[in-house]
Amino acid sequence: MSALHQSFPALEESLRRIRLGTAPTPLRRLPALGDGSAELWLKDEGTYGDGGWGGNKVRKLEWLIPEAKRRGRSTLLTVGGLGTNWGLACALYGREHGLKTVLALIDQPVDDHVRAQLERLKDSGAEIHFTHSKNRTIATVPWLMLRHRPYYLPAGGSSPVGALGAVEIALELAGQVERGEIPEPSHVVTAVGSGGTAAGLTLGLTLAGLDTKVLAVVVNDTLRLDSVALLRLARKSESLLRKRGADLPPLDLTSDRLIVTDQTGPGYGHATAAAGQAQKVAAERAGLELDPVYTAKAMAGLLALDDGRLGDGPVVFLETNGPR
Ligand SMILES: Cc1ncc(COP(=O)(O)O)c(C=O)c1O
Repeated sequence: MSALHQSFPALEESLRRIRLGTAPTPLRRLPALGDGSAELWLKDEGTYGDGGWGGNKVRKLEWLIPEAKRRGRSTLLTVGGLGTNWGLACALYGREHGLKTVLALIDQPVDDHVRAQLERLKDSGAEIHFTHSKNRTIATVPWLMLRHRPYYLPAGGSSPVGALGAVEIALELAGQVERGEIPEPSHVVTAVGSGGTAAGLTLGLTLAGLDTKVLAVVVNDTLRLDSVALLRLARKSESLLRKRGADLPPLDLTSDRLIVTDQTGPGYGHATAAAGQAQKVAAERAGLELDPVYTAKAMAGLLALDDGRLGDGPVVFLETNGPR
């Protein structure tokens, strides 16, 4: 049973979840990666996902696929960059659950990583529209809506329903703290591409009664992803839970639950020296394979602040990428 349903049984009928991976995802201590003082841990969300692709996107789809069916839709429509992990996860898990996926894709710098991802997308059964720019995508989406009558999912699946996937990660982590697998973390670190993961973590950690803060490392300059926007999404998920019948206590979702820092560099998907260095250090010292677009930049954000500003930790780094 999901941790959310365990805490709020009234949600079981009103907000369904299908299980697409194996939980809890593993936690492990990392060696020191920089000169900082914080004790580092890894929560490996990359292992989450039983079909074709893993990572934080799968957690969102566990709530979004049943919601699409509740609304009587048989198609998912979403948007992303040419190398979208999100679009691929939608296509693979949607297909497994009888839903067609339509994707509108925006240009991003093409390297080997993006090229390989595009090949996987072409094999995924999704209907792909290359819309190139944000403006052309905005112009095309209404036409795709009319044509397919889909359940529209915003970039990265970061809707109030999608963010519940990360609420679940936070409640799961709280269970791991309760069982003594890790001391209460001072921070949980995630890359921010569309905001749902950081917003859901903020809501979930608050719900769990932990003092853990979210360190949200922004890697995308095409969406508004400051603390106001992230907290707005967290509050929308909170309202959704209340509307669907969860008896939540009053929650204090304020900006001191969240530290937002930016590692985008010249733009979404563009390489940065800090991310390259973080990728190298994480590989050499901890055997981690960080991806250049999200997790390497998230690690760069962590290492930049680990100069005393994160205290002694434990700091939990979320490995959100899940290639198979
Ligand atoms: C590997 C990976 N990590 C992190 C993120 C960020 O998550 P979110 O879109 O919820 O901000 C994404 C997607 O954007 C991703 O694909």
